[in-house]
Amino acid sequence: MTMAGTRADTAHPGIGQDGAPAPVPIADDVHWIGALDPQLRRFDLILRTANGTTYNAYAVRGRDGVAVVDTVKAEFAEPFFARLEQVARYDEIRVIVLNHLEPDHSGALPELMRRAPQARLIISKRAPAMLKALLKADDEEIRYETVDTGHEIDLGGRRLKFLHTPFLHWPDTQCTYLVEEQVLFSGDVFGCHHCDRRLFNDRVGDFRFAFEYYYAHIMRPFKAHVLDALRLIEPLPLKLIAPTHGPILRERPRRYVARYRELSGGAALEPMPVDSAPLRTLLIFYLSAYGSTARMAEAICAGAETVHSVRVSLYDLDGGESEPFVDLIEAADALALGSPTVNGDAVKPVWDLLSSLAVVNLRGKVGAAFGSYGWSGEAVPMIEDRLRGLKLRVPLPGLRLKLIPTDAELADCRDFGRRLARALVGDAASGSGNGQAARGVIDFAELG
Ligand SMILES: Cc1cc2nc3c(=O)[nH]c(=O)nc-3n(C[C@H](O)[C@H](O)[C@H](O)COP(=O)(O)O)c2cc1C
Ligand SMILES: [Fe+2]
Ligand SMILES: [Fe+2]
Repeated sequence: MTMAGTRADTAHPGIGQDGAPAPVPIADDVHWIGALDPQLRRFDLILRTANGTTYNAYAVRGRDGVAVVDTVKAEFAEPFFARLEQVARYDEIRVIVLNHLEPDHSGALPELMRRAPQARLIISKRAPAMLKALLKADDEEIRYETVDTGHEIDLGGRRLKFLHTPFLHWPDTQCTYLVEEQVLFSGDVFGCHHCDRRLFNDRVGDFRFAFEYYYAHIMRPFKAHVLDALRLIEPLPLKLIAPTHGPILRERPRRYVARYRELSGGAALEPMPVDSAPLRTLLIFYLSAYGSTARMAEAICAGAETVHSVRVSLYDLDGGESEPFVDLIEAADALALGSPTVNGDAVKPVWDLLSSLAVVNLRGKVGAAFGSYGWSGEAVPMIEDRLRGLKLRVPLPGLRLKLIPTDAELADCRDFGRRLARALVGDAASGSGNGQAARGVIDFAELG
């Protein structure tokens, strides 16, 4: 099944279209000015990205000017420049730092250099050849400065210090440390493909799987280099790690550093983080051929997110692999599964996931099913039966709707999400409170 771009026009307040240009403050006079790419399902050919990714870029203001740290993929230049323009004028930009030159972070660089011609381009000592190949230009045409570990740039009360961390995961990789704020701009290091507009690790959905998956596919081939880099990073006081993909790590950032050491074979300092334990977690998985079930999933997610003590994560099964999802589900409190009805059944990846769950104790977790259908709509009740068979509690009748959801039906989906989240935190009023029989399925076509 493929999404075939069908969601491009669906605004979703949960992980959303990247329409809103607001930059996000992450420290004093430091802003996130990156871009969200929730539609991406495969990155660099080798990575599945079940809910997309982010290209994080940052602006740092000192007394004497502004530094831009990393840019975004070329096709996301528009939101990046829109956000940048809200925190700085182009003539204020003194330096542009590229932590590595891969196109997902250097795509908007040529245009940024055109708009801020006075800015000094700062790259690692191993990057010049890469830069020339990237910009297809000769030495004389590109002005750049290379830096190494220990080099420093003072923006006026704001010092950027550089750490040479080659091969994490490109030869020219470096990290940039903002001394006064104790912020590490780590590039792809400590990053992951997890798109969530809430941005911060203590606010987004459960991304532990994404973090480990990213390490396994991107950093693991370079373990020895990771250990070298950690020797530079570990002594730094750290308030926050700002990577180029995925959540910004402000809650206990050091745990992620420790996890890299553990995964790279060094002595572990701390176990893998379990974020914000008091929150209840809801995972929403879906598959959709034409986008209707996807839109339901997004609306359910948006509704559930309005319940504060519940952390919601949304995953397209088309962009993932069952096995790591099983670990996520084992650790979660609730699971909602969405499938269209195809040939009188739910689609195979949904059954694959459900059959993988046989090894996990799911008793007492909350389950729910939803999906779009054309005429008979068997998928939702079949999934519900299976969820009950797996001993999940299914407090709300499954939600199915005929073909393309209307605005009113999407509002019902948001309500379904809200009630599901409330059921999770024990709000008795939520249950099957709409008067439907517990095993019944809400069918908008029948309700008329
Ligand atoms: C190959 C195929 C078989 C289908 N079989 C059924 C079916 O047996 N019963 C039904 O209610 N709808 C059936 N449908 C209709 C889909 O469930 C419907 O188009 C639904 O809106 C698709 O949801 P989606 O946009 O999330 O993919 C079928 C559609 C396709 C393409
Ligand atoms: Fe990269
Ligand atoms: Fe990257």
